[in-house]
Amino acid sequence: SKKPVRVAVTGAAGQIGYALLFRIASGEMLGKDQPVILQLLELPVEKAQEALRGVMMELEDCAFPLLAGMEAHSDPMTAFKDTDYALLVGARPRGPGMERADLLAANAQIFTAQGKALNAVASRDVRVLVVGNPANTNAYIAMKSAPDLKPGNFTAMLRLDHNRAASQIAAKTGKPVSAIKKLAVWGNHSPTMYADYRFATIEGASVKDTINDQVWNQDVFLPTVGKRGAAIIAARGVSSAASAANAAIDHMRDWALGTHGEWVTMGVPSKGEYGIPKDVMFGFPVTCEGGEYKIVEGLPIDEFSQACIDKTLAELLGERDGVTHLL
Ligand code: NAI
Repeated sequence: SKKPVRVAVTGAAGQIGYALLFRIASGEMLGKDQPVILQLLELPVEKAQEALRGVMMELEDCAFPLLAGMEAHSDPMTAFKDTDYALLVGARPRGPGMERADLLAANAQIFTAQGKALNAVASRDVRVLVVGNPANTNAYIAMKSAPDLKPGNFTAMLRLDHNRAASQIAAKTGKPVSAIKKLAVWGNHSPTMYADYRFATIEGASVKDTINDQVWNQDVFLPTVGKRGAAIIAARGVSSAASAANAAIDHMRDWALGTHGEWVTMGVPSKGEYGIPKDVMFGFPVTCEGGEYKIVEGLPIDEFSQACIDKTLAELLGERDGVTHLL
């Protein structure tokens, strides 16, 4: 049987953590033959550590055959020791009256410390997914704080936007979501993201031609996907958690086990693709194989799409400029 791999999860006692850990431990993320050791990080305060102990009791009570070990941590320097995968979910939420600059600064502090800890103690091949918002910029900060690790191993979660877009297209066309291929989401995990179905196919037919409605694209589809998080908060009273955890599982599974030629969306550091400045953590269509992702290159960008990409890029550059002095 396979040697266990180490999976670190931060914010482990939060609501995404609660929807995520059981699925990792059951083998949904890395395969039904891959034992895992969970290294769980929570804030060093009694309430958070107590809640984490409760979650760990439930994990024990599932008696997952693949769960080869489990640890509770309050310090990233121990939580990330030798870790092969790191899911950075915990972040500082925007409190009442908190300015954007304060939010960026609070998260810069968290993700600088976590990036440094990964740099110091994680596996040299650690694959990092940042879920905690602002996800792209937090991933950028962690990457910049870990100069000895491969920059390309730091990624941000755009997969929830990708999955939301796929399900909207499935509903619009009346086709199964599994039939949709070649969907792309560009840019920031925020309402400015650009979900792009120009290349997408459904049962082999062009999605764009099938829908054939640019007004729907602009006035219904893009705002629905972009504001989905807010719609869920309005309906549920709390933010999306199960669907976010599901997207994290999808992202890591596809990265580790491959997409067999199909496109998925990942936030990854640009190497200059599509004119996105180097190192900007940007949502791109990618394929994954052998544990590596590859940006799908050479797609034509029309005027409407370029304007959408420029807008989400401008937002990301603004966030980057807001944290540069903190790195
Ligand atoms: P939550 O508030 O229920 O849980 C967050 C947990 O993280 C808490 O238990 C807290 O104690 C812990 N935490 C905070 N700072 C930490 C630190 N420095 N180290 C370790 N643990 C820390 O929040 P929830 O709903 O689980 O969401 C987590 C994050 O994910 C939020 O930032 C949210 O905005 C983001 N999110 C991102 C999505 C995406 O698509 N990228 C989708 C949905 C949520």
